[in-house]
Amino acid sequence: MRSIGFVVGRTSTKWITVRLEDEALIDDLVMVGDRLLGVIRGVSYANPTMSPYSPFTPANVEAVRAYEYQNASVELYGSVDQGKFDPRILSAIPTGTSVYKVERGDLEKLAFIDNPIFLGEHPSSKWPLPLNPEAIDYHVAVVGSTGSGKSHLVRLLVKELIRMGKRVVVFDHTGVDYSPYFKDYVIADSEVFPDILSLAEVMANKVLGKDYLDDVEVSLYAYLYSGGDLGKVRHFMESLGFGNGEFDMRAILKLREVSPMDVSWDNEPFIATLRIVMGYLKRKEHTIAKSLFRLAKSGISLGSFNGRKYDVDGLINHILDDNLTVLDISSETLPIRYGIMRGVVSGIMDRAERSEDKLNIAIVVDEAQVYAKGQPPTVALSDVARRGRKWGIGLILVSQRWVSDLDTNIRANINSVVFSSLQSSSDLEDIGKIVNLGNIDTGILGTGDFYVTGLLSPFRRPILMHTFE
Ligand SMILES: Nc1ncnc2c1ncn2[C@@H]1O[C@H](COP(=O)(O)OP(=O)(O)OP(=O)(O)O)[C@@H](O)[C@H]1O
Ligand SMILES: [Mg+2]
Repeated sequence: MRSIGFVVGRTSTKWITVRLEDEALIDDLVMVGDRLLGVIRGVSYANPTMSPYSPFTPANVEAVRAYEYQNASVELYGSVDQGKFDPRILSAIPTGTSVYKVERGDLEKLAFIDNPIFLGEHPSSKWPLPLNPEAIDYHVAVVGSTGSGKSHLVRLLVKELIRMGKRVVVFDHTGVDYSPYFKDYVIADSEVFPDILSLAEVMANKVLGKDYLDDVEVSLYAYLYSGGDLGKVRHFMESLGFGNGEFDMRAILKLREVSPMDVSWDNEPFIATLRIVMGYLKRKEHTIAKSLFRLAKSGISLGSFNGRKYDVDGLINHILDDNLTVLDISSETLPIRYGIMRGVVSGIMDRAERSEDKLNIAIVVDEAQVYAKGQPPTVALSDVARRGRKWGIGLILVSQRWVSDLDTNIRANINSVVFSSLQSSSDLEDIGKIVNLGNIDTGILGTGDFYVTGLLSPFRRPILMHTFE
């Protein structure tokens, strides 16, 4: 440690002013006396002979330089007692106390958190920041403008969480941010049979229009029940009480047991199924005709859903059996991706509710603006944000902006925000509503520079980190 000055002015348990006798920069860590640890949040020059209110202008600027001094304002993080860090400071420190800049190797011997994880180091002291892995269960957001190094940071985080024995599932929106780095753990969306509702949404959106979502969904159930056998389609509809049929619970019960992967999917029998179902639903003749033509012309190939390896349930089994699963959701259409995410996230919550043990799993959603702001998976993600902690289910959401990319209910339940330079100045203000920001000066941060705030920070207060290469 190197002495850089001494405490002046009024001191408190949170902030002190330091008269600098040596160079110190914003974000440098300092020891105050032999037991307080803090960080420089601002540096300023002053000179009593150069007061903006003084009527006397010095004739020779050089001559009054001697009166010039530099102050640093230091936010105190906490105290160090017998090698252990404690965020509480119970009394103020006297003026005149010496202040030292923390240098490489100074903090390594201090104990902060049991079993920490490491993603980077504090830039000027090169101190590898010990981060609290328990903060993951309280949900983390990683926010910063494009190219700031968010996905890189989250890849480091994924590795560290696995090292700590946590399960991780990553939704790789682009297919290039995670899948190539964790090759042995990738499942592509084209290997997953989506849930029926999502499939219905795709078909309805693409061809028939939202008004016919119900017809398509019921036809898919009828197809599932019948395997495309038209006699069985009629039987299914009759047992639901349509036509001349009488309601019979058995058809619905049977449906619960059929996996979409047990059925052979094909356009022609499906179109015929839709025809029959729309008839039972008493759709107008011209509507039925139009729907059939559009579907036949649509280019949708149900056959492409044959031979898939997992349905959503099977996928969840796989996720819970393995320590890491990277879902490459870059090739299917958005409604199918939504369906996979919604199915997996809400399925994990269902399993948790039925399970005796904590699931101990982190759910990573990169490019969260596509999924966590009003789109179909938002409700499932909000539910994890609200209740997941109880079962050890943590969210890690990654996006460029805070307010406009993440749903209010999700933001309100996030307890750590790791952020780089932000595109929107109001974001910083809003992040300050859920984590303590003090008055950090984010200035211009380079690639890989992030402020770690909230529970994840060893100080519960913002600290600058540069991620490992
Ligand atoms: N600490 C680091 N050291 C060296 N290179 C880094 C570091 N952090 C990130 N990079 C590099 O910077 C580039 C951008 O990083 P990354 O893709 O993680 O940004 P991003 O914030 O996820 O951007 P986007 O919002 O566009 O997804 C990548 O090439 C990455 O390898
Ligand atoms: Mg990225």
